[in-house]
Amino acid sequence: MMISEKVNAALNEQVTNELGASQTYLAMSCYLKDLGLNVLAAFFRKQTEEERMHGLKILDYVLDVGAKARIGALAEPPMHYPSVAATVEAALNHELKVTRQIHDLVSLAEQERDWSTRSFLQWYVDEQVEEVSTMTQLLQLARLAGDDLLKLELHLDKFGMGESQEAEAGKGDEE
Ligand SMILES: [Fe+2]
Ligand SMILES: [Fe+2]
Repeated sequence: MMISEKVNAALNEQVTNELGASQTYLAMSCYLKDLGLNVLAAFFRKQTEEERMHGLKILDYVLDVGAKARIGALAEPPMHYPSVAATVEAALNHELKVTRQIHDLVSLAEQERDWSTRSFLQWYVDEQVEEVSTMTQLLQLARLAGDDLLKLELHLDKFGMGESQEAEAGKGDEE
């Protein structure tokens, strides 16, 4: 195998972290849907798929380098939040936590002089910049809207926040 046991274990842990984020966003999506906020719920549902893809991409890397895959247990995510802004704030904090986890992984890969893993992780470093930026903007909007959640929904709908990736690709904004 091309990577050390230490890097292997850390990558496996990150697979579980990404799948955990997927579960957390799925629960958030249910909570928001329950409030009738379909656009915001669809946005979090889309994040669920993205986080799963993040996890599977690491899993495939682990398999590609001939390392041992391990899928860890997931904690049950909260199904309720004090408010919509609190939900988005929790999501932002989660993204900040994942960013630290990715940066720790990068540090470990560099310590181990594991340049394959270091290169692989760059995609995640860049992705986290985008994820934190999106959640920060969403939190600002949620705070601006305050109790006017319908305004928030209409605004997010106008900018296609609840649309699927396929719909976005159809509009030609897929990178
Ligand atoms: Fe992720
Ligand atoms: Fe994320």
